[in-house]
Amino acid sequence: MNVVSQDLGVLSDWQDKHAQLFDRQNIKLNHRLRETGLFTEDAIGQLIEKAAPHQYSLNTMGFQKDVNEWRHGEIQGISGREVINTIRAGRLWLNLFRIMEIDSKYDRVLDQIFGEFESFIPGLKTFKRNITLLVSSPKIQVYYHADIQGQSLWQLEGKKRVYVYPANDAFLTDESIEKILMQETEEEVPYQTWYDDHAEVHDLEPGQMMHWPLYGPHRVENHDCLNISVTTEHWTREIRNEFAVRYGNGVLRRIFGLKGLSTRPKGIHVYPKAAATLAWKRLKFEKARQVEKKVDFRLDPGSKEGILDIEPYLK
Ligand SMILES: [Fe+2]
Repeated sequence: MNVVSQDLGVLSDWQDKHAQLFDRQNIKLNHRLRETGLFTEDAIGQLIEKAAPHQYSLNTMGFQKDVNEWRHGEIQGISGREVINTIRAGRLWLNLFRIMEIDSKYDRVLDQIFGEFESFIPGLKTFKRNITLLVSSPKIQVYYHADIQGQSLWQLEGKKRVYVYPANDAFLTDESIEKILMQETEEEVPYQTWYDDHAEVHDLEPGQMMHWPLYGPHRVENHDCLNISVTTEHWTREIRNEFAVRYGNGVLRRIFGLKGLSTRPKGIHVYPKAAATLAWKRLKFEKARQVEKKVDFRLDPGSKEGILDIEPYLK
């Protein structure tokens, strides 16, 4: 069985109130994704073996909140199970992107998830859906950041502490959002430890998921165990308009030095800004400004912390 029974559904404790809260407040729900059998270590090991280099990103991460020690690595010549066990013993983070394109069984799961959201939430219409698998070491963390599209986090194995901060200017400025949108940074943004006083903090256990409002900054700390999770992403017309306006602002600021631009995702200014966005992308300015990833280690079960230094190359 690769899809959760339609009678039961993926979302097992959805209530009417969640339709109003979705995308406006943080919500934490129970899910039945593990019942698909697609997220066992065996199934995930097979998925890892099928992934091409462009379909994953393997990173190291540090212990200190404020310190960035982020390296990119590669997987060569070891089994999926060895990859998982090496991550279990190290301080690493594996993202497997767009797993619905690696194996169509995950596409059916993705369809089921958003089919349920759309049936529960009046007017919700999602597109450009995506599902990413995350395998991460005990005690590691994901630094404070925000994502550019609708985002949910589904816990499958292990336990993690999720800090979600208010989606407002005090915690994430328009300038930071713009940089994330324009891919000038790897989604890390300025963070102060006092932000935590204002965060909503949840321990996410297997069978639980969270969804938070667009651009809601968040960070994650794993408990002392291997963690397997997926994130799902989606776009709606509102999210796309918001993207176009903010991206367009970024282009206008960078070309003409304009200031004080509106970020409202409605109104006539949306269209010229969407055009500026397209023009900018067509002119390929974006490519030149993007962050390149330098790969400088290979995952190696026999090496200290699973890391074997290699001759760096750009990915
Ligand atoms: Fe995120």
